Amino acid sequence: MLPTDLSNAMLLTALLLAFTHFATPIAYYSYLKIRWLHRPWNIKRDPGYRPRVTIVVPTYNEAKVIESKLDDIARQDYPKELVEVIVVDSASTDETPAKVEEWAHRNPSIKLVLVRELVRRGKAHALNHALKYATGDIVVITDADATWSSSNTLSNAMSWFSDPAIGAVTCLKIPAGKGLMSVEESYRELYNVVRLAESKKHSTPVFHGELAAFRRSLLERVGGFPTSIGADDSNTATRVALMGYRSIAVDNAWCTEKVPSREYYTWRIRRAQHLVQHFTKTMKWLLRAPGELKLVLLAETWLHLANPWLLLASTLLLLYLAITGSTTALILLALGALLLTLKLFRTWITTQTYLVIATLRNIQTKEIVWEKQEKE
Ligand code: GDD
Ligand code: MN
Repeated sequence: MLPTDLSNAMLLTALLLAFTHFATPIAYYSYLKIRWLHRPWNIKRDPGYRPRVTIVVPTYNEAKVIESKLDDIARQDYPKELVEVIVVDSASTDETPAKVEEWAHRNPSIKLVLVRELVRRGKAHALNHALKYATGDIVVITDADATWSSSNTLSNAMSWFSDPAIGAVTCLKIPAGKGLMSVEESYRELYNVVRLAESKKHSTPVFHGELAAFRRSLLERVGGFPTSIGADDSNTATRVALMGYRSIAVDNAWCTEKVPSREYYTWRIRRAQHLVQHFTKTMKWLLRAPGELKLVLLAETWLHLANPWLLLASTLLLLYLAITGSTTALILLALGALLLTLKLFRTWITTQTYLVIATLRNIQTKEIVWEKQEKE
């Protein structure tokens, strides 16, 4: 048994940590939802605006999906003469390059260039390589295993660039696949609200590889995609926002991403690792962020880098207290376990766990060149 004073102090600390852990995201979410989500966009969007577009598809062993990916691009209602597609392949060991060439042969109306890297150095490296061949005003990055939800997704996404204040545009995400669907779905619902509200306020610091569009001139100004961290899209979008432009997620462009059926956890942890790398890098720039962006960056940095650890610390304290005889701690832990039956709570706790594991894993490997997780 611990002395009562010490035990009480520890219990109070655990409660304070847990309170802060849950209160900050709830406060931020409520603020976004109440103050920003339903506001009209303060953007001059021209629905008919059609800039010249370069679509870049990075591939490493995507033979299974690359043809349907290119079909998905071809079915877009965007004027064909305004589109060029660059597939940048990094030494795939499967049939990807051959499939791309065959597809190009079958679809002569689409301007397509296949760029081949002899060595695989990661997605961002490949994107920078592709940029050398890009001529469009807007560069759209899209993953091979992603689908755009309708034939006007590209047109809708591009229309925002009619406002010169917009520097980058990304889609919102619909989860699909046979993975852990229910958790993935509630995670997405929550995050789409956050992405959209942050965008209405100024910019969102989290972009999606399923559709990440940038003004090419700005990509040049920021020196291309960062090759030392994993979240190339999010980090580049944030750097664009720090230059005073807006990097927004829009509610008229939706993307479907395949959720891996196997190795789901590896996949989530790797992506969390990339976000942690991104926010660690962003932290240095917080002070020079434009006013409206500062709070968004501060909140997201806190939520990704610090907040998950409060939960861990609180849980460990409660566990220690429970083991050393505190009934209150035991009850609190049991209550927490009971709450895990709620989907939203479970989703939250798993996400926190991924972030903690991701931060630790980053010490060992940054996963810049990653193993592909099987998607069905
Ligand atoms: N050329 C090239 N070279 N392409 C690559 C490489 C590489 O070394 N590594 C991955 N890719 C391609 C894949 O073929 C796919 O089209 C896209 O990059 C995304 O890779 P996935 O393996 O599908 O990863 P993900 O969907 O889990 O990654 C997501 O998160 C990343 C950040 O964590 C996506 O949103 C990525 O765009 C994002 O960068
Ligand atoms: Mn993917």
